[in-house]
Amino acid sequence: MTHPEWSWDLFVAGGRPHTLGNVQDAVKGGRRVTDFLSWIARNFDRSVTWKDLDFVREVWDGPIVIKGVLDADDARDTVKAGAQGLIVSNHGGRQLDGVKSSIAALPRIVDAVGGDLEVYMDGGVRSGLDVLKALSLGAKACFVGRAWAYALGAGGEAMVSRMLGTLKSELATAMILTGCDDVKAAGRELLDL
Ligand SMILES: Cc1cc2nc3c(=O)[nH]c(=O)nc-3n(C[C@H](O)[C@H](O)[C@H](O)COP(=O)(O)O)c2cc1C
Repeated sequence: MTHPEWSWDLFVAGGRPHTLGNVQDAVKGGRRVTDFLSWIARNFDRSVTWKDLDFVREVWDGPIVIKGVLDADDARDTVKAGAQGLIVSNHGGRQLDGVKSSIAALPRIVDAVGGDLEVYMDGGVRSGLDVLKALSLGAKACFVGRAWAYALGAGGEAMVSRMLGTLKSELATAMILTGCDDVKAAGRELLDL
């Protein structure tokens, strides 16, 4: 009642059974979110290994970027497996409570494989200053997960644009205040490391 526009959008304009769109075709007759979640749980393959990348390589000839690396040895295996990039990511801390932060894992991984492939980062990026920290520690770029999802939920595409604009202006402020005039040249000295 206190958010009439949201209520209208959800219950009147978009009030349909909530499904997971990307697996909708696979879950015939699925209507409740729990139908989809149990299908996903049944399809998680815990036997996956680096060898499975051979299959990916067979069916995809573009660049391969491996997401979810937090450990320098795994990063080296990523290079051996022939990937062109990796994303240092703790998946937003959603899988394991207490997992290390991506930003803490980043420097060791950059030191281990930074010259061999492109290193990106996500997890916990909440501001333009966080972006500058990630770039300073050697990430080529970083990503946001919750930020765009929350913005989209709160105000659609326009709010996602606004969120990106906010990150950009915060990044500019952080660059000015740290004396950085080129993000490509941002290094650990910005963090006094
Ligand atoms: C609701 C939700 C669902 C997600 N599902 C997946 C997923 O299926 N596969 C995956 O690799 N990461 C998944 N992630 C993690 C994001 O891809 C990303 O790594 C994370 O959100 C980045 O952290 P941040 O939310 O702090 O920006 C999910 C994140 C959220 C919030």
